[in-house]
Amino acid sequence: MKVIGLCASPRGENSNVKIALETALEAAAAKGAETELIDVAKLQIMGCQADNYCKAHDGKCAIDDDMQKVYKAIEEADGIILGTPIYFIDVTAQAKLVIDRMYSYFMHEPSQELFSKKTFSIITTNGASEEEVYMPQVKAQLQAFGMLGFQTGEIVTLSENNEPLAIKEKEDQLEKARKVGENII
Ligand SMILES: Cc1cc2nc3c(=O)[nH]c(=O)nc-3n(C[C@H](O)[C@H](O)[C@H](O)COP(=O)(O)O)c2cc1C
Repeated sequence: MKVIGLCASPRGENSNVKIALETALEAAAAKGAETELIDVAKLQIMGCQADNYCKAHDGKCAIDDDMQKVYKAIEEADGIILGTPIYFIDVTAQAKLVIDRMYSYFMHEPSQELFSKKTFSIITTNGASEEEVYMPQVKAQLQAFGMLGFQTGEIVTLSENNEPLAIKEKEDQLEKARKVGENII
């Protein structure tokens, strides 16, 4: 059993959602999972070029960049947790780069079959927006993973985390993150 976290915040070690992901992964590890956190915001990942190379090449993307490592990690994982701050009432551009590149698997039956055994969940952090403002967008992104064949897990939103590392003092939010890690197993 392997659970990976994809961190789509550019803040690196100062990121609240990165701490939430680490907390979720620790909880998964405590239940026996092998875990890995990938800081996708620090990788070189191009946007999907819509060249449809993947459609003629068994779901393989033509772009030879760091997304190839992310594809491999997703294919090998049983549970995937995307961690993204909310930027202008949506996931970050860094998260969207990864999501769009998942198009290589779209309508690819062997991938659908592979992903049907995997669960995809999302943890978000934000400053002050009301949940109902950004939740439709986050739900739509999770739905995209459902279209790719994944079992759609949960969405957890962690608010009032504008200040770097603010979440460290919020045991209630860390507990919510922990539950995501436990539930994905
Ligand atoms: C470009 C940008 C746009 C943002 N837009 C929103 C927003 O629409 N709603 C909101 O509540 N917070 C917004 N925020 C605040 C971030 O969601 C918040 O600071 C987040 O916790 C930071 O990410 P972290 O988890 O990596 O620390 C925005 C921050 C930035 C930098």
